[in-house]
Amino acid sequence: MNLLVIGSGGREHAICWRFAKSSKVDKIYCAPGNSGISQIAESADIAADDFAKLADFVKANKIDFTFVGPEVPLSLGIVDYFQTKGLKIVGPSKNAARLESSKIYSKEFMLKYGIPTARYNNFANVGDALKFLESWEENKKVVVKADGLASGKGVYVCNGREDAKNAVKQMMSEKVLGDAGTSVIVEEYISGQELSYLMFTDGVSYSMMPASQDHKRIYDGNRGPNTGGMGAYAPAPLATDNVSKKVDAIACKVIDGIKSEQLDYKGVLYIGIIMNDDSPYVLEFNCRFGDPETQAVLPLLDTDLTDICMAILNQKLSNITVSWKKEFSVCVVLASGGYPGSFKKGFEIKGIENINDKSTMVFHAGTKFENGKFVTSGGRVLGITSVANNIKDAIDKVYVNVKLICFEDMYYRRDIAWESFK
Ligand code: GLY
Repeated sequence: MNLLVIGSGGREHAICWRFAKSSKVDKIYCAPGNSGISQIAESADIAADDFAKLADFVKANKIDFTFVGPEVPLSLGIVDYFQTKGLKIVGPSKNAARLESSKIYSKEFMLKYGIPTARYNNFANVGDALKFLESWEENKKVVVKADGLASGKGVYVCNGREDAKNAVKQMMSEKVLGDAGTSVIVEEYISGQELSYLMFTDGVSYSMMPASQDHKRIYDGNRGPNTGGMGAYAPAPLATDNVSKKVDAIACKVIDGIKSEQLDYKGVLYIGIIMNDDSPYVLEFNCRFGDPETQAVLPLLDTDLTDICMAILNQKLSNITVSWKKEFSVCVVLASGGYPGSFKKGFEIKGIENINDKSTMVFHAGTKFENGKFVTSGGRVLGITSVANNIKDAIDKVYVNVKLICFEDMYYRRDIAWESFK
């Protein structure tokens, strides 16, 4: 098979790496890819939203199917476009991708299908939102969410009325998130630990992946501003059999909803959960693999990813068994100092070649290959993932390997997966 993966981050590197393990794969292309991905896949210099060029590329290179990594091309309808051209593609249709691209749609979906989630109100008018917040308690936490896609920056957890009013003004009047904040949700704050449940689905059945946990804040102890994710681990001990049973009940309701709404959903669905005592609530849906969760989860996959994709495309996912290693993985993200604020780029990355342990992977996110060496080119630079028989060994192993790498201003969290011991 020849495959095309769309995207350019650590997630897409992990997806290409997993495909490259398959004996059925002849050639992998990645558009646009990155310098690390190009070690295992040929880069195609086409933007992820240039559907016409991508479709021409697929035809010219006899690609058997395309796999979409990020949410933006899905929300713009890449699946619908490819289908009109008769091309196979793994991902939800534009309509189905609204589960991520419109937070209001996804909340309405949750309510309609009895999926537990925080109570909310939505607003298309700034005056109405501010009026609603007038009666909010002065110091009671509340969440303001932009309706549209905002690259992970669309959720403000506010400390009370004034904070929330400011968030509404920033999103709706000052347009700090562009069109994403044209409408907003104001929802009750639920406290608890978060879990990422990712599942493969063909729209009629699903297969759950091991639950993982992301680390969104920049500093140890979950402090500081949000980032795209500073590390992840899987399976998360918090996801006990009892919790997973409850999340399975939620997944069944999601599938019922997808069927009833006649959504064309063939891909990966990410259910973002918050555990309030013993009860799971859905925070959000994402219509694709999570990042960095994928860099922790895919190294545990035993089944050939091409078999899973073919089963999804043929709507026969329930006919195959997806199996996972009974091991643990930990991914630590190495970032440029200053991220998620401003940071310098172009620093030489040293020591990647020193990592030669088979159970440790180096996934590239923000790197470039220039004059014979890798240099930094983004906020999140590398994801280092180690797999071991238990979580403690996976943590120890990943940090031994992290210490083999260095670049100027390199920053990483020292406490990835430590939460799992609580
Ligand atoms: N890790 C969060 C996300 O992928 O959206």
